[in-house]
Amino acid sequence: TPYRVAVVVGSLRKDSINRKLALALAAMAPPGLKLEMAEIGALPLYNQDDDASPPPPSVAFKQQIQAADAVLFVTPEYNRSVPGVLKNAIDIASRPYGQSAWSGKPAAVVSLSPGAIGGFGANHHLRQSLVFLDMPTLQQPEAYLGGGGDLFDDAGAIKKPDTQAFLEKFMAAFEQWVEQNKTA
Ligand code: FNR
Repeated sequence: TPYRVAVVVGSLRKDSINRKLALALAAMAPPGLKLEMAEIGALPLYNQDDDASPPPPSVAFKQQIQAADAVLFVTPEYNRSVPGVLKNAIDIASRPYGQSAWSGKPAAVVSLSPGAIGGFGANHHLRQSLVFLDMPTLQQPEAYLGGGGDLFDDAGAIKKPDTQAFLEKFMAAFEQWVEQNKTA
């Protein structure tokens, strides 16, 4: 059976290019990986007062992460960092202390921006959290994708063959990474 990969998209926008990219990655995933969207749009703001009895959407999200074998983050960059909605989701599933859902799960990060820098700042700020969360995160190939405004056709397919080929290579590397770093 394929490994279950929870896909967390760092944008809530209906026409998000990162959501389009996540769906494209799900469609091109190798047979060893099954990508499932883990939605973050209904999550409340994290509040440590609720640790003993978290709101139901937070419980459900955390359970979805717990049930996954691996996590793929697909995110835009906001002000050279991680969008707050994504950080909020990460914080929610990381608590209470010692009961993080992220621990040990192999991960990968893709950042996509209309700009030229390809979300490098967000990609690496995210990696800082993943170190603390003890998630072995794919290092190569790195995926900082620029030019995102022109990447998709009307059906959401990737228009640039070189980008499509790169992403297929990326997903193959991630499949190997999950295989090598899965928890028992
Ligand atoms: C942005 N955008 C942006 N882009 C970038 O490359 N670097 C950045 O630091 C920022 N900062 C930023 C802050 C805020 C608050 C917004 C709303 C936007 C532009 C951003 O890349 C663009 O809106 C993307 O389309 C967002 O991704 P989605 O929502 O299309 O997936």
